[in-house]
Amino acid sequence: MIEKYLPDNWNNNERAVITYNHSLMVARAAKLIASKCGLDEELAFNYGEMHDIGKFFLSKNEIYKHPRLGYNIILNDNMGIANICITHSFPIINEKHIISFCHNDMEEAELLINILSKIPTNDYIELIQLCDKLSTINKYIKIETKLLWYQEKHHISFSDLQKFYCIPLNNIKEKFSKICNIDIYDLLGIE
Ligand SMILES: [Fe+2]
Repeated sequence: MIEKYLPDNWNNNERAVITYNHSLMVARAAKLIASKCGLDEELAFNYGEMHDIGKFFLSKNEIYKHPRLGYNIILNDNMGIANICITHSFPIINEKHIISFCHNDMEEAELLINILSKIPTNDYIELIQLCDKLSTINKYIKIETKLLWYQEKHHISFSDLQKFYCIPLNNIKEKFSKICNIDIYDLLGIE
């Protein structure tokens, strides 16, 4: 379904191709996990495919706006996807962390917090938050491996990384591992 929303000539843009490949990996992981735990596979795939749609419309230094832009792009068509777009980067809603995520753009941070605080989490939101952090552009990796890369890129402290990503995402992983009756790392072939 992503084709309908992609900008023209997106595949001439290297960053867009990276985002597209990553989104497909998230979609496939989400579909596989959904198939093992009784969630809707097609819905999970579409959510994974669409979670970063906002990135296709932003320059590199505005990427931090992609969760809310994705939400706005899709809100009138599909509220479920809109909620996935805006929640996928925030397993925990913490004001200080969100301000730093937004590079101290207070207006963006306030808009984000305002919308995020009204969206109750659910299995699909958690599924995409998890799959996003397990997926690169061509393979699946451990949460901690992805987050080390994330730490360098976003200058986030190690303790904030633990609080806002590692701990909540490991809890989500454990939850899905239990429901699926198989460790999610094993299911995705992560060594
Ligand atoms: Fe993202």
